[in-house]
Amino acid sequence: MNVGERHYRTIWLSDDKHSVEIIDQRWLPHEFRVETIGSVAGIATAIRDMWVRGAPLIGVTAAYGVAIQMKDDPSDEALDAVWETLHKTRPTAINLRWALDEMRRFLKPLAPGERADAAYRRAAEIADEDVGLNRAIGENGLAIIREIAARKQPGETVNILTHCNAGWLATVDYGTATAPIYLATEAGIPVHVYVDETRPRNQGAQLTAWEMAGHGVPHTLIVDNAGGHLMQHGDIDMVIVGTDRTTANGDVCNKIGTYLKALAAADNDVPFYVALPSPTIDWTVADGLAEIPIEERSGDEVSLVWGKTADGKIAQVRVSPDATPAANPAFDVTPARLVTGLITERGVAKASREGLKAMFPERD
Ligand code: MRU
Repeated sequence: MNVGERHYRTIWLSDDKHSVEIIDQRWLPHEFRVETIGSVAGIATAIRDMWVRGAPLIGVTAAYGVAIQMKDDPSDEALDAVWETLHKTRPTAINLRWALDEMRRFLKPLAPGERADAAYRRAAEIADEDVGLNRAIGENGLAIIREIAARKQPGETVNILTHCNAGWLATVDYGTATAPIYLATEAGIPVHVYVDETRPRNQGAQLTAWEMAGHGVPHTLIVDNAGGHLMQHGDIDMVIVGTDRTTANGDVCNKIGTYLKALAAADNDVPFYVALPSPTIDWTVADGLAEIPIEERSGDEVSLVWGKTADGKIAQVRVSPDATPAANPAFDVTPARLVTGLITERGVAKASREGLKAMFPERD
């Protein structure tokens, strides 16, 4: 997507053809910083400490991490070790394991001397594939927005609520939940987005709002608890969120707070859609609540909030007493029964085993 006049993806190969450049998302919306990363340790830090985040982008970054390792040491042992190191960085987003598995599956049969070049090529392909998947999700989600717009008076706005950041910053480009919104805006359909701030790290306030502003999408920031109230008053036409892992049964794991939005949507007959590329489906897991590992992050993310002070410094402030402990489960699971549809690159699937099997028959 464009930042100012320039088109950016969220990750790309440096001029040296070995390191990668990433947008360091910790500083947005206040500063747009690009970092160069040339080591596996650097890639692990960038994923763990959320310089990059969002399930698809975590996967692509890890794929480049494998390529960097293959340049340094293309042995079988190094390939297994980089898989282990990067797999440990964040536990919930399945795209991480998907990308690491894919890189190892692709590289293992090759002679060590061939692996580095092949690894950079495959990582670049995975990045390109992500852009294509998101574009297709955008087209399929656009059809839903069109239908909702068609039921309204001409020119009336379609109000969409989203949670966290499933935007282009969470992917390589376009985003998942945001792709239909961007395409609807381009198509001239009047849309307005309610952006959940998404405590504790405020990915909505810091990243989604920045994306919406940058692309001229009318939007309003709300606190996480406002969504139910807005739905009760008929102010939301649909919810679209992303996901970090969706099970073979259609249970959806996403940023903490998503489940409460789905409950409120069900209670108010508001359609609740989840946008996802197929690498986000974990075909090995059926029951999301019982089987998906939920990342527990530092309580400091709850007690300390980042922001920009009046004199222009980016700083943290404490919002709770020093001695108060904080818990920070980073994701929750929305049961399939609360999901209206899964917007995939192939079309909109029912959130059920049968729905996903019909959409991806080769996975049977
Ligand atoms: O903790 P984060 O910021 O990595 O969480 C991101 C989300 O929850 C997104 O909604 C999800 O990864 C889907 S991104 C297309």
